[in-house]
Amino acid sequence: MLLEIRDIHVHYGKIAALKGVSVDVDEGEIVTLIGANGAGKSTTLKTISGLRPLSSGRIVFGGRNISKVAGHKRVLMGIGQAPEGRGIFPGMTVTENLFMGAYARKGNVEKDLKEVFDLFPRLAERKDQAGGTMSGGEQQMLAIGRALMTQPKVLLLDEPSMGLAPKLIQQIFSIIQEINRRGTTVLLVEQNAQQALQIAHRAYVLETGAVVKSAPAGELLDDPQVRAAYLGGGAESAI
Ligand SMILES: Nc1ncnc2c1ncn2[C@@H]1O[C@H](COP(=O)(O)OP(=O)(O)OP(=O)(O)O)[C@@H](O)[C@H]1O
Ligand SMILES: [Mg+2]
Repeated sequence: MLLEIRDIHVHYGKIAALKGVSVDVDEGEIVTLIGANGAGKSTTLKTISGLRPLSSGRIVFGGRNISKVAGHKRVLMGIGQAPEGRGIFPGMTVTENLFMGAYARKGNVEKDLKEVFDLFPRLAERKDQAGGTMSGGEQQMLAIGRALMTQPKVLLLDEPSMGLAPKLIQQIFSIIQEINRRGTTVLLVEQNAQQALQIAHRAYVLETGAVVKSAPAGELLDDPQVRAAYLGGGAESAI
């Protein structure tokens, strides 16, 4: 198992955001976390990347317990995150933003840059434009591109489709699939459950800080409870 999240509890002050979440991510998979607002999806990702401390439980990555490892070291170990809200550097160009993703590691940065530009031709077209002047969708691509520049073994994506036009949403999901095909494991958080389940291998449903269901993604697409709660209910929404 590449990533094992075992019974993690996470608090914001006295508020328990995660109450014993366990999630497994195997090498090569796309795993998705779905759930209502406030269910704890972002908190789960932030805890994996080391932005939130654990109250209890453990996170094991590549067989090593990383529960106490600092966030910047987790990036070097291969945990890449494109954060919710994008978080790019507005005053830097697209290319500079991408280089920032690679600055702490060794290896052939130019080759990775070429690969990111290959995945996102729009970023190549705009490579000298300031990050902050890119459109919302373009900034989202830039955030994903920058995370890829860290050469992650697992890529954590928090709502990559948020705020995008329908056509671009489709494109982002295809790109995530392509990233996975090229060998990167993906842990994906999405409000857009329908599309996330269509590209994922397995899925977990979170409710108020706990996992209430886990199954192959295809099964959840057909699950009446999941359909009613997260997929808009009607049978036609699966098409
Ligand atoms: N900085 C914070 N301070 C206090 N409580 C927080 C903080 N961040 C999150 N929470 C709480 O923790 C719980 C889980 O939040 P989280 O952001 O993980 O949910 P989410 O599943 O990502 O929701 P959404 O779909 O709206 O992004 C929520 O009840 C939220 O109010
Ligand atoms: Mg969130």
